[in-house]
Amino acid sequence: MTVRDKQPTDVAIILGTRPEIIKLAPLIRECENRDLNFILIHTGQHYSESLDSVFFEQLDLPEPDYNLEIGSDSHGEQTGRMIQGIERILLESTPDVVLVQGDTNSVLAGAIASSKLPIELGHIEAGLRSFDDEMPEEVNRVLTDHAADYLFAPTEDSAQLLRNEGLPDDCIYVTGNTVVDAVEEHSQLALHRSDVLTEFELAENPFALVTAHRAENVDNQHRFQQLLSGIESVAEEFNLSVLYPIHPRARSRLDEFDIEIPDVIELVEPLDYLDFLLLEQSASIILTDSGGVQEEACILQTPCVTLRDNTERPETLDVGSNLLAGVDPNEILTCAREMIDSEHNWDNPFGDGTASEQILNISCGKTRKSAE
Ligand code: UD1
Ligand code: UDP
Repeated sequence: MTVRDKQPTDVAIILGTRPEIIKLAPLIRECENRDLNFILIHTGQHYSESLDSVFFEQLDLPEPDYNLEIGSDSHGEQTGRMIQGIERILLESTPDVVLVQGDTNSVLAGAIASSKLPIELGHIEAGLRSFDDEMPEEVNRVLTDHAADYLFAPTEDSAQLLRNEGLPDDCIYVTGNTVVDAVEEHSQLALHRSDVLTEFELAENPFALVTAHRAENVDNQHRFQQLLSGIESVAEEFNLSVLYPIHPRARSRLDEFDIEIPDVIELVEPLDYLDFLLLEQSASIILTDSGGVQEEACILQTPCVTLRDNTERPETLDVGSNLLAGVDPNEILTCAREMIDSEHNWDNPFGDGTASEQILNISCGKTRKSAE
């Protein structure tokens, strides 16, 4: 039996997907530094090596104490089975607080399971809103925020959105986003350790970095085709190579729709974090529908065009690091022209890289506003 087994559990951290592993890595390390008795619950929503274990190894994270191995399924099946599994673990381990990060089905399951038990819930990255209820992530965010006892908003704007929904001010803390902690901890390391630029012959070649995996884009054949055609136009006009590390959801839709990929776009397997960070730092432009990638592009001073009609990260638009193009090819090209020609010296709105410390001070240091 380990020491962690014997002591009362201070905090249970729930994660299930690639972005949660990356954005929670600094917080998990901070738990280790503080000798907190924490447990890691992995739902198994992501399970392919390239979306899961590669990050545990590279970021030197402890093995999860539990892996529910839920895998892929319909939203209801997947979330329902997660709730059952998480509830069992929480009843057994009785942590003081549960922390979830972001907007995935794993987050919603963690929120529902803990909010029905006498255990406090902290939501990291609270208060993000796309105001698009068609997005499964929007539903997950809203429900999780309304179930949480601690709302860790990355910016003052996201805190205000929570207040606008009537959530109590003494539960809301503006901490910055742990993505800044993760980028600060790893971007120098990426410069020294990754040879991805040589591997893909990009060291001397200007290139665009692409990710697209959102259900509303890749599950819709017309939108997916439009998006690829817009990327092709950008590559042609600016004479850029294009690297697209493709998420398995998008890969399987390409096969299913039998979409022909423009020659200029090189598809590769999803990359590890250091390789991906170095590509983000080195790209002439990033074209993406990812939430985390919009933030990282902003932090790393790389211009970004978002292949969506809305964003729950409007701070990136406000500081001038990002433009919303949707998937219309002309709009993608127009936005890319504007971003490539713009000055790349905006402010980072997502905090100073101490979000993880602040979150643990508040949720595990017993410094609740009402108790101060
Ligand atoms: C999920 C999140 C999304 C997040 C993304 C991060 C929800 C509703 N969506 O989307 O917000 O941006 O993770 O990448 O929670 N698959 C594999 N291997 C895996 C996992 C999935 O091949 O390890 C394939 C399966 O075919 C699966 C599909 O990808 O059906 C979608 O996986 P799922 O977890 O349902 O959603 P994501 O698109 O990954
Ligand atoms: N990422 C990565 N390898 C890749 C693509 C993305 O490590 O090939 C990282 C990226 O740096 C960011 C996170 O994955 O930290 C974003 O995850 P994703 O786009 O899957 O999810 P979202 O943020 O949209 O929920």
